[in-house]
Order: sequence, then structure tokens, then C-alpha cells
Amino acid sequence: MKRIGQISSQASASLKAQLTPLSCSTFPNFETAMEFGCDFVLLAEGNRLRLANSELGEKAALEIDFFEGSLRHRRHFGGGRNQDLAKAVGLNRNPKISILDATAGLGRDSFVMALIGATLKANEKNEVLVTLLQWAHLSALEKAQADQDRELVEVLERMRFRHRDTALDHESDQFDVVYLDPMFPERQKTAKVKKEMQILHQLLCEDQADEESLFAVCIAAARSRLVIKRPLRAPAFADRSPQHQVRGKTVRYDLYVKQALPE
Ligand SMILES: C[S@@+](CC[C@H](N)C(=O)[O-])C[C@H]1O[C@@H](n2cnc3c(N)ncnc32)[C@H](O)[C@@H]1O
Repeated sequence: MKRIGQISSQASASLKAQLTPLSCSTFPNFETAMEFGCDFVLLAEGNRLRLANSELGEKAALEIDFFEGSLRHRRHFGGGRNQDLAKAVGLNRNPKISILDATAGLGRDSFVMALIGATLKANEKNEVLVTLLQWAHLSALEKAQADQDRELVEVLERMRFRHRDTALDHESDQFDVVYLDPMFPERQKTAKVKKEMQILHQLLCEDQADEESLFAVCIAAARSRLVIKRPLRAPAFADRSPQHQVRGKTVRYDLYVKQALPE
């Protein structure tokens, strides 16, 4: 069981409520949280929320940001409809489809798909990650509204992050496409794993994907197709052979097609 603490006295009033569902103790500073044996600390300051772990310390904290950083770059210079993800999901043909992102993670793929035009619900079962996602979503929305950035407001309004275990909670709705990116690749000793990946690995290391039930729920929730992201040479998910593949340099997308996408 991981021990999570929070430091939130400096948090923006409009965002602080996002921390309420989390059952974690509040500390005045990082050092005190360490003395009380926390493995992770959520650092809320102004409109930023970061996650630090005890090993790497406060400076190496992980943050999800839909307004600045790499996703801002992606917004202005990203590959749009021609990237492999867009082709696999079918956004190159119809950008306005509905998508269930069954494993939200850091929300990057969700953001890219919503950016192209999809309306999307994204499930994340880890409660700390959901808090980071929902905070980042609301914070970016507030900034985009203040900047009168209509385009970004619309992108963010097409996305919704939910605290949900996709394998356990059967979806009452169907989606044109279900997208599944189940596991961060195994940590390799030789590779220089980025610090944020180290934090994520530590946060999620006790999780084992139940491939059978995830596959069953996802294929049932998909009207047109299920798309599963895999490391390039990994075996097929849940031992199910896909009908099609979109292959990139390091990852591939396996496609399980039920019917054509809506026009
Ligand atoms: C590889 S990450 C997804 C990365 C994501 N595609 C992105 O762009 O940031 C996998 C995520 O799925 C979550 N996850 C795994 N099984 C899940 C399930 N059954 N329901 C919801 N989320 C799940 C994990 O907690 C983890 O955060």
C-alpha cells in the first residue's frame, strides 16, 4: 500500500476541491511528508498540481499540463490526421467520432484525439492519476477561457476524465471507437528511463492488467472498432489476433474491426 500525502495550502481555491476525493494526509512541506513516511506527495501550488516521490524528491515531480509544455507544442506543430494514432483510430477519415479511451494514463493520447476532433471519455483507475488529469483539465480550461482561446476551450470541452476501472464497470453507452493503451512498457535496465516514467512505474507497479476482461468490455463497448496500442514486437493483447495493424517505429496499433466507421 502506497502512502500519499498532499501539500495544498497554496492551491488555487477554484481547483483545490479536486483533491477532496483523495484520502491522503495534508502536510506543511515536503520534508515533513518524508518524515511521516510518504511514498508520494501531491504538491498543489496556485493552479499547478505535481506529483513527487520519495526517491527522486520535489524537483523531479511529474505534472500533466494540457495548456503549456509538450502538448502545447503538439497543438501547434503536431502531426494532425496523418499520424499513426489518427489513422488507426480512423480520425483521418472522420474527425468527429466518439471515443472511449479505456486507459487514460497521462491523457496524452486522449488530448491528441480530442485535438483532431473526437469527443472522448477517458477512464483511469488509479485515483492519483485521475486527480492529476482532472486538475490539469480544469486548470487548462480556466487558462484557455482567460486567454479567449476558443479552439483550446472546444478541445477541452470534448474531453472528460473519469475515475473508473474499465475492466470492472461495464459501459452502458457504446462508442464509435474504443482505444486501449494498457501498460507502460517494461522498465529496461539499460535504458535511461525518464524521471516521470520512473514515478509512474512506481505508482502503478502493483497493477496487473486483466487482459481477458479488459478485452471483453472494450470490444463490447465499440460500435465500429477497438484499437490497442502495443510495443512493436509484443504479442497480441489477450492472445486475440487483430484483423489489421498500423505499424510505427516503436509501437503498433492492432485493429479489431466490427463495422465501418460512421461517414
Ligand atoms: C500506458 S498508460 C496509458 C497512457 C496514455 N495512453 C497516455 O497517452 O498518456 C496505461 C494507464 O492505464 C491505466 N489502466 C490500466 N488498467 C486500467 C483499467 N482496467 N481501467 C482504467 N485504467 C486502467 C493505468 O493505471 C495507466 O495509467
